[in-house]
Amino acid sequence: MSENESTSGILTEIDHVAIAVRDLDAAIDYYNKAFGATVAHREVVESDGVEEALVKVADSYIQLTAATRPDSPIAKAIEKRGEGLHHIGYRVDDCQAALDAMIAAGATPIDKAPRPGSRGTTVAFIHPKGSFGTLIELVQE
Ligand code: CO
Repeated sequence: MSENESTSGILTEIDHVAIAVRDLDAAIDYYNKAFGATVAHREVVESDGVEEALVKVADSYIQLTAATRPDSPIAKAIEKRGEGLHHIGYRVDDCQAALDAMIAAGATPIDKAPRPGSRGTTVAFIHPKGSFGTLIELVQE
């Protein structure tokens, strides 16, 4: 196998690493001071109760994510475990096909069907239980 040959199957990229934070502006400021990183995209996803700021790293993103309301999944995660890594977004060409493959492999879907995500993407979440403790988001651009 050549060095460039992919071994990741239907995964085409790490789309994003999502980090739950209490104060989005403070986190953006920290990434700017520490890395000189600036925000490529910022968006409120009202349906999820989150506001996210995306820092682009090559073809992937660091997604700093804060809650916009107390019943947001990010608010609940921070309440339970504090700030920190929240989920990994795996980029795929076909979210439905990837979701079907994960269910066939025994994964527990949170989303029964793909739905709209930020940046105009199509996404589906997989429960960490049964996925080695990692909340997985399938992301189709
Ligand atoms: Co995400």
